[in-house]
Amino acid sequence: MLPKLFSPIKVGRSLLAHRVVYCPQTRLRASSEHVPVPLMAKYYDQRTTEGGLLITEGASVSGNIGGYPFTPGIYNEQQIEGWQDITKAVHNKGGSIYIQLWHPGRATSSALMPGGKPPVSASAIAIKGKNMAGADYEVPHALEQEEINEVIDMFAQASKNAISAGFDGVEIHGANGYLIDQFINASSNTRTDKYGGSIENRGRFALEITAAVSKAIGEDRTGIRFSPWTEYQDMIDDTPYQTWGYLMDKLQENHPDLAYIHFIEPRDDYLIPAGDPKQPTDKETDSIEPFRKAWKGPIITAGGYTTDVKRAFETAEKYENTLVGFGRSFISNPDLVYRLKNNLPLNPYDRSTFYTQGSVGYTDYPFYNEKDSSN
Ligand SMILES: Cc1cc2nc3c(=O)[nH]c(=O)nc-3n(C[C@H](O)[C@H](O)[C@H](O)COP(=O)(O)O)c2cc1C
Repeated sequence: MLPKLFSPIKVGRSLLAHRVVYCPQTRLRASSEHVPVPLMAKYYDQRTTEGGLLITEGASVSGNIGGYPFTPGIYNEQQIEGWQDITKAVHNKGGSIYIQLWHPGRATSSALMPGGKPPVSASAIAIKGKNMAGADYEVPHALEQEEINEVIDMFAQASKNAISAGFDGVEIHGANGYLIDQFINASSNTRTDKYGGSIENRGRFALEITAAVSKAIGEDRTGIRFSPWTEYQDMIDDTPYQTWGYLMDKLQENHPDLAYIHFIEPRDDYLIPAGDPKQPTDKETDSIEPFRKAWKGPIITAGGYTTDVKRAFETAEKYENTLVGFGRSFISNPDLVYRLKNNLPLNPYDRSTFYTQGSVGYTDYPFYNEKDSSN
């Protein structure tokens, strides 16, 4: 009998043939103008399978929010055209592709903001430590109500642009310490208005964005990603089950037809190089299982399956309505789906080229069958 990882499932409007999902991964290969380039089309094309789902790297919802150099955006015509080449390549092979909609919030720098303005966040609290350019993170400007409304509009407009670019849907980036997560977590949100304080208030921004995007393009073309346990970029919340449990209840109540909810597992280790003595804290008792009781639709689970492939098969077998996201192993194995299906060895990934530019470490990882690599 075929493992459930290789059985069909409906996600939004896509009928998928299997449950191996390409996870969103920032690779910094777009142009300096934040436009997707042909090399990116080759990369996503290489990783497409018939009936497979890909989720793109985070794409900025606006040109006025900083971000990182060489990340793509989804806010202007050139970008929409650039993405069209990518969505066409994926559809030509029978795959589906969602775009991850990203607002970095405070995780950027005034050097990248228009007019050198400070980055924005829920509250005026800086991330500790250094940013990508090696400078201290800056104290962000706490968004005011009118500015919050503007951000919500950015997400709605970006989702419409995504549909014009040919995407099957969008994933709202509510994870990993970026703007939406900065509102959800108590450590970065000390607001005293209706967006801060209680769990209901901290969850409001995520829910308002979900409502606006769903309204703009349809619930069944909208997904959202969360990382209740990720401590990256100073995210700390003492009550993950209550906080994200509330979000699950509300999403189930108000948006039961969302395409999916995407979780990063508590045992996620992608930021920790192999051999580093600091490995993920033992959170054996934590699991996303309680969230499954509240949310009845499809769930994508990611984090650590790269280093434990067996668990991916077990997870898909054990849980209904579940897909498994692969990050690093999909970077280094363009034919990951074929390799998993046929129990073939995986290429190791090279962390040193995750965030460089050009084709090295991007489109040059070998296929198991060399003839497929001409794709
Ligand atoms: C190079 C790299 C870039 C990433 N960029 C993003 C991103 O843009 N958005 C996001 O939600 N997660 C991002 N992630 C996290 C992955 O989606 C995934 O959750 C993580 O790699 C764990 O999966 P793995 O153990 O299979 O690698 C990134 C991970 C890597 C390795």
